[in-house]
Amino acid sequence: MPVTEAEVMQALSRVKDPELGRDVVSLGMIKDLKLQGGQVDFTLELTTPACPVTDQFKEAVHDAVASLPGVTGVTVALAAQVRGASGGGPGPGALVPGVRNIIAVGSGKGGVGKSTVAVNLALALHKTGASVGLLDADIYGPNVPTMMGLDHPVQPSGQGIPVAESYGIKVMSMGFFLAEGQAVVWRGPMIHGAIQQMLRDVEWGDLDYLIVDLPPGTGDASLSLAQLVPLTGAVVVVTPSQVALEDGAKAIAMLSKLNVPILGIVENMSYFLCPHCQQPVDIFGRGGGQKVAQRYGLDFLGELPLDPTVRIGGDDGVPVLIGTPDSPATQSFLAVARTLAGKVSVHNMGRDQAIPITLFSTPKG
Ligand SMILES: Nc1ncnc2c1ncn2[C@@H]1O[C@H](COP(=O)(O)OP(=O)(O)OP(=O)(O)O)[C@@H](O)[C@H]1O
Ligand SMILES: [Mg+2]
Repeated sequence: MPVTEAEVMQALSRVKDPELGRDVVSLGMIKDLKLQGGQVDFTLELTTPACPVTDQFKEAVHDAVASLPGVTGVTVALAAQVRGASGGGPGPGALVPGVRNIIAVGSGKGGVGKSTVAVNLALALHKTGASVGLLDADIYGPNVPTMMGLDHPVQPSGQGIPVAESYGIKVMSMGFFLAEGQAVVWRGPMIHGAIQQMLRDVEWGDLDYLIVDLPPGTGDASLSLAQLVPLTGAVVVVTPSQVALEDGAKAIAMLSKLNVPILGIVENMSYFLCPHCQQPVDIFGRGGGQKVAQRYGLDFLGELPLDPTVRIGGDDGVPVLIGTPDSPATQSFLAVARTLAGKVSVHNMGRDQAIPITLFSTPKG
């Protein structure tokens, strides 16, 4: 007896998305199911192309169907449809309707590598197949144009502001409108206006992820961003020294005050991989990011090495993800991006089911 569609769907309904914790049928992930005698073909539609567990997941759905009596062959195709907070419909708020997820990258102090992390995470997500934008919300010290190799100014057109594009990423920055060396001296309301324009008047189009590089500390830009659009959440970058970790805690407190969910902590400059002996050297100590995550009940998204090629990539406008795609630093960025994309999917699923995201006001333990 050949297998029936109902039997296949029943078998698949026993497979859970390893991250979302719900079965693939009720999550609507099974598409284009075709049966021809004992041959079963279908598509597994992931919630992000950057899914961190793609291979195991594909194997699990394949095996669930292959073990059914009457099945002679199974072909599983993979696809991805990034979902926004409302399961894929219009994106976060009316300001940027085509953008499904807005993710801010922040820190409690300057120079820990927010811009570097924002740039390379954007590129890593794009590399997995996602459509990605990058908004430089550092109005006073915009570094994204240099890091993305975009030093030409953008001329605002009559209607919207045309977005710049580099390495497949749509980019907007105050830096495009400033002459070299020119400084911005603005008060809060003007910063707010600039952020609003860069969200509303820029032709972002349809994006899976818009990564926002925040300025250091707890300033006006973060406040404006949180007020203007519902953020999917924020990534907090820390370096492992004790003082940097204390500043990281400040960023966490600030974001939670603004009701911005924290998607996780990234530890940048975790270790230096010695080019001579290939051994990791813990320059600032190591593991502090993980401790902060634990202390506040947050997810830890991973470690990024201190690597001169990362710095050179930023200075030269050829980020490490592009310049040295096989380097250990690139692999670390890709791993963090996949973990982050998984957390975003989980987070959005939580919102779909109206599970409150627990923010913290006091540290645990
Ligand atoms: N993992 C890394 N390895 C080597 N250099 C790094 C790494 N991360 C960042 N850097 C370098 O450290 C410097 C500061 O990084 P970056 O500008 O990204 O920090 P930031 O937190 O955005 O700073 P600011 O607070 O001023 O905006 C840059 O020169 C950058 O190239
Ligand atoms: Mg920066």
